[in-house]
Amino acid sequence: MRAILTTCWGLENITADEIRERLRGEVELNPFGFRGRVAISIRTIEEAILLSYSLRTIHRCMLLLHSFKIRTDEGGLEDIYEGVKEAEFTQFLSPDVSFAIRSERKGEHRFISPQIAASAGQAVIDKVMEKKGYRQKVNLDDPDVTIRVDVSNDNCMVCLDMVGGESMHRRGWRRYDHPASLKGSIASALVRISGWDEGETMLDPLCGSGTIPIEAAHTAMDLPPGYFRKDNLAFMRLPFKREVFSQIMAQIDGGIRWGIELRIYGSELFEKHVEGAIMNAHSAGVEDKVKIYRHDVSALSELFRPGSVDVIVTNPPYGMRIADVKRAAEIHRSLLRSGFDLLREGGRMVLVTTHKNLIFSVAENLGFKIDKSLPICNGNLWIRAFKLIKGMA
Ligand SMILES: C[S@@+](CC[C@H](N)C(=O)[O-])C[C@H]1O[C@@H](n2cnc3c(N)ncnc32)[C@H](O)[C@@H]1O
Repeated sequence: MRAILTTCWGLENITADEIRERLRGEVELNPFGFRGRVAISIRTIEEAILLSYSLRTIHRCMLLLHSFKIRTDEGGLEDIYEGVKEAEFTQFLSPDVSFAIRSERKGEHRFISPQIAASAGQAVIDKVMEKKGYRQKVNLDDPDVTIRVDVSNDNCMVCLDMVGGESMHRRGWRRYDHPASLKGSIASALVRISGWDEGETMLDPLCGSGTIPIEAAHTAMDLPPGYFRKDNLAFMRLPFKREVFSQIMAQIDGGIRWGIELRIYGSELFEKHVEGAIMNAHSAGVEDKVKIYRHDVSALSELFRPGSVDVIVTNPPYGMRIADVKRAAEIHRSLLRSGFDLLREGGRMVLVTTHKNLIFSVAENLGFKIDKSLPICNGNLWIRAFKLIKGMA
């Protein structure tokens, strides 16, 4: 059996490392030419539950049911119908559950995703009728079982979706929605890139709704990303083994380190976001581990002594949704200057931004070494994560 984990383009290696920490087995990047995906062989469906519930950088976990080649002209729809019928999915269906097909398509084809879904859906209905003698219910809005039929050029992949409608980058604790909040998966990847250790002081000086500080606290606590969304996980709607799946989650929850002491700080200019970040820290169960202040990034020395911070992880405004590009560039400069003063020698700053040229031109002049520069595709926007180290230019 193989599990396919999806993430952002650019984060595949980080997701692969995260998987290796949990399971042994050959990890493959971008299987069948699908970017932003990582595959691993698993022995049981229980291992897929473990991955779905506890990996921080994934968006979804899927069980691979079948993969095959298709034509890219109109004949491809027929190939999809036949290929889906060959997949072994009837064990995941029963008369009392509904299903839907979801499809993603990359490449040039003479057909579009809704046509893929229609062909594949018909194949599921026909196979269940032939094999089990009933007509499988369809529910396109809120299905119990989601089958993914994804096409990349002449490759087609049929998978059982373990996560469902809402990607795992939504953690379920957010009460305050920031207009430019970062995905939990990317926030978590940034924390990993920083190499932050739970004994170190961490600061996000542009913390918005608190995503990065909260993600860091959960990482140190071993609090799984599925913890606050147990009622929103597709594997709990499969018509079997729900007890077993609940036990797996309970076992993982048993390892949460609620009592751990951490030095994680967030600061932010606008009162509304400060209040929102505090509200989010409460609903995420980390109000005693994450301290949020109202402060301007250019005057951080009023809050922290020079050299007293080990790690800064942050997400400055790009000048698209909030602030204009010129103002955003000034904020980047302030961040680099005051971040440099606050960090100890050898301290790290990880930031994600669209202003890559500014970082390349300013960081080394200030005395940072650019240790890593990683392009990431966030939805339709290419951003870049930088890891800067103080005093190693
Ligand atoms: C891209 S958002 C951060 C979003 C955050 N990562 C989240 O997930 O909610 C950048 C934040 O920087 C804040 N900001 C802008 N100028 C600032 C300044 N001079 N000092 C401190 N914060 C500032 C904005 O209000 C905004 O909340």
